[in-house]
Parts: sequence; structure tokens; C-alpha cells
Amino acid sequence: MHDSERTHLERLMIVSNRLPVVFQREDDRLTWRSGSGGLVTALAPVLRDRGGLWIGWSGLPSSDQDEVDDALSESSAATGYELKAVPLTEEELELYYHGFANEVLWPLFHDLQSHCNFQPEYWHSYLQVNRKFAMHIKRQLQAGDYIWVHDYHLMNVAAELRELELDTPVGFFLHIPFPPPDIFVKLPWRFHILRALLSYDLVGFQTMRDKRNFVQCLRMLMKEYPVRSTGGFHICSTEVRDVRIGVFPISIDYHDFERRARHKDVSEAAWYIHEHLQQQQIVLGIDRLDYTKGIPYRLKAFRNALRRFPELQESMTLVQVVVPSRTDIAKYNALKIEIESLVSEINGEFTRSGWVPIHYIFRHLTRTELLGYYRTAEIALITPIKDGMNLVAKEYCACNIEDNGVLILSEFAGTAAQLHKHALLVNPYDVEGVAEALRDAFSMPYDERAERMRQLRSSVRRYDIYRWVERFLEAAISRHLADYPVVAEYIPPDYGDDFGASV
Ligand code: G6P
Repeated sequence: MHDSERTHLERLMIVSNRLPVVFQREDDRLTWRSGSGGLVTALAPVLRDRGGLWIGWSGLPSSDQDEVDDALSESSAATGYELKAVPLTEEELELYYHGFANEVLWPLFHDLQSHCNFQPEYWHSYLQVNRKFAMHIKRQLQAGDYIWVHDYHLMNVAAELRELELDTPVGFFLHIPFPPPDIFVKLPWRFHILRALLSYDLVGFQTMRDKRNFVQCLRMLMKEYPVRSTGGFHICSTEVRDVRIGVFPISIDYHDFERRARHKDVSEAAWYIHEHLQQQQIVLGIDRLDYTKGIPYRLKAFRNALRRFPELQESMTLVQVVVPSRTDIAKYNALKIEIESLVSEINGEFTRSGWVPIHYIFRHLTRTELLGYYRTAEIALITPIKDGMNLVAKEYCACNIEDNGVLILSEFAGTAAQLHKHALLVNPYDVEGVAEALRDAFSMPYDERAERMRQLRSSVRRYDIYRWVERFLEAAISRHLADYPVVAEYIPPDYGDDFGASV
């Protein structure tokens, strides 16, 4: 059947850098369990209903591949869909994953060009690993499959599939931001990447901001391919296909978070946390260790608040959780040292008997601990300097079942497009502004907190992860370009018309 005649989805093939599973060794045997991330939670029912498979790296070195394959051979009995691991050698991990994905694309796409390490060997390995993924896809492919590729690690996969003469429909979703043209043009492989993205049939972004940046890059660098706007999509026409470009803000399984937050174990964990911080408002920061999360600026803002508003001293405690991540990359370790030094300086300056201003946690939290903190913290301080979406903000709202939390949110997080009206929006670089937001949140009357939180929760509830999957797959298989409602675009107040101008 030709793509244009499709009206429904047959088998779904998900492709991402990592498989959504966690491996562990038990008595010398490799076992695995399903991950608990939002993506797998939302996709699992679709994969089970339609039949499907998930292709990705296991997270282990390729020397363990036989064991990995053995362990996954019965995967469909456990999950209802198949898991296929792509083996990556030490060298590929070094050059493709640590190198091109995380030392070139990650910083550049978060507007941090000075953090980039543009090594040609990284690029060559990126191409080679994307080809390897394409070969694995080809081996598993059946007539009628729809392939959905995820994130910046695998932008070249569709181009490789086309090289292999496969005309199967392929969609792509970018979980991280897409940078503005002035930054994107710095990439030595800018033309190749744009052309690669035009090998997909559907390209999805988190926010209008990202779509606008991408369309501007196409108009600037790919002048031969006209881009037009129709309904909720842009369409770029190449010699071989019309590529649809849309916005699909990712979300969470709202009801699952809310239900778990009500659980007795979580109530007890929440009570226990507050019992040890009596007469305190808890300010919560939870991030992967990453320089895009703005943690040093956030700590400086907290210090600024304690200095300028002494009434906050001994009445407010910051719990900053940092989850270890990409620790093999030098920049991440340097960041850890910077954070730890700031935490000890601030604690050294303000600690009084019975009050330590910052509780710093560097480890993975258990699910119950995490939900306990979400449920009990009076304020969430989420201030990335740039973020594709930021699901912590949405998780905090879903778990705030007492409707009494205040969300302080960076205007540069994708979530701001949806939640800006009822969060306290801040520029994460503005240390004094963030300090003032902390003071405002601290003294916000109960009624205002409750009203804001009710609105935030209802917005997150309406656009949950299931709606996200549904909208992407609807757009993927339907030829009809419906004008899907996009969650309102945020236009920051001080940027004037240029910032919000549509392309
Ligand atoms: C971001 C990316 C994901 C990635 C995750 C964790 O959220 O968008 O694709 O999986 O970070 O990073 P890691 O490098 O550990 O996979």
C-alpha cells in the first residue's frame, strides 16, 4: 500500500538511542526490567495493541551483547512488544554518544556554542552509528510498519534508510530545543543535518519556538525547498517528498502521578520530610546533572534572597536534588564541583543551630522519595537556562494534590509556553529577579496559591502524554492536515513583537 493511502497505523517501530529498560546483574545473570519514564509508559499500550518493537542501545558495552540479546529474547512475553538492542562499541560510545551527541549537538541546540567541541571524528562516528541503526531497522522491517525515531542522537537515520532504498514512512521527534539560525549556522555540518531532517515525512518539535527556529534555518540555508504554512503545520517540499513540520509538546502520565502521590507510602514520606523541617517552607530543585539546568545561577539567586530578605532565613530550606548523569564528560564533572562549592559557601554563610539552608542530594531518588518531595514542597524552583520541555515542572503540579504549591519557572523552559500564566515566570540569569520570585512565592496568600495551582494542574491534566502520542501518530498516518490545537505559545513580555512574530 502506498503511504498516501494509509488511514491507520499497522505496526509501530520506535527507535531511540537508549532502550527503555534497566539491566542488572543477579547471581551472574543479566536481567532487565522496564524503565519507568513517561515515554515508555505512553508508548507501551500502543506497541502492545498494534504490535511493535523498540530498537535502541542497551546502555551496556557491546562486549555484553550476547547476554543482552539472550536476556531480551523473551521480551515480548513480558512487555507485549519486542525489544532489539543495537550494540555500540567503546569507541562508538566515545565518539558518537559522548562526542557528537553530547559535546556538539547537546550544547549547540541549547544555545551554548562555547561548550561545543566540533571534532570531525565525532561527526564521522555519528554518521556511522546512524547507519548502523538504519541497518538494524531494515533487518526488522515489515510491510506496513511506521517508524518513529526519537531525539538528537539519530537525526540521520531516515537519510540512511533512504540510502538503503527504503521508502517506509518515518517520523522524527526532537525532545530538545532547536536553536535559532545564528547559532545553528555555526555547526560545520549544518547543511547535512537539515537535509537529513528533510528525509523524514513528519518532523515534530516541542514548542512553536523550536519549529520557528527550524523553519527559519530552512528558509535561510535550504532556499531551493519552499516552506509553506497550512493548518497547524508547515510543509517543506523537496524533490521527493512533502515534509510536514509540527509542534507536539510532550507531557506526563498525569493520572498515574496523581494517584501515586495519594498513596500511603508517599503521604508518610512527605510527612517525614516536613517533620524534619518544621516551620519551614521547602523549595525544591530536581535536575539531572547538566549545565543547561541553571543550577549555579539558581544557588546564587537563593543566596541573594537570603541576603536581601532576612525574613526568609530559618524559614525557607532549599532541597536541591542532582541526579548523576554523563559523568564521563569533563564539563559535567566541573559542574558538579562548582555546585558543591557554592552549596558549601552558602551553607557556611547562613547555617544556624537547627537550620541548614541547602539540603544537597547527589543521587537517584527512589520513586517514593521523589513523590514525597513533590507532594510536600511549598515551592518548586525550576530554572533551566534552556530546556526542550522540563517534565519535572509538570510532575510537581500533578503531585501537588493539596493545591498549595507555587511553581517558579524559567521562561526558557518549553513548559513555559503552556504554564506561563499561572507559574511565577523568571529569567534564570536574573539572580535578583529569581530572588524576588522566591520572596513572592514565600509570602503568597493561600487563596492565590490554590487558584494558580488548580489552573496549572488542569492544564497538565488536559494535555497528558497519551494525548501527545495520539496527536503525533494521528499526524503521522493522516494525509488530512487538520489544524491540531497547539498549546498556547508564550510570548515573553519584554521582547517586543520580533520574538513572537510568526514565520
Ligand atoms: C535528555 C534527552 C534524552 C536523554 C536524556 C538522558 O532528556 O532528550 O534523549 O536520554 O536526556 O540523557 P542520557 O545521555 O543519559 O541518555
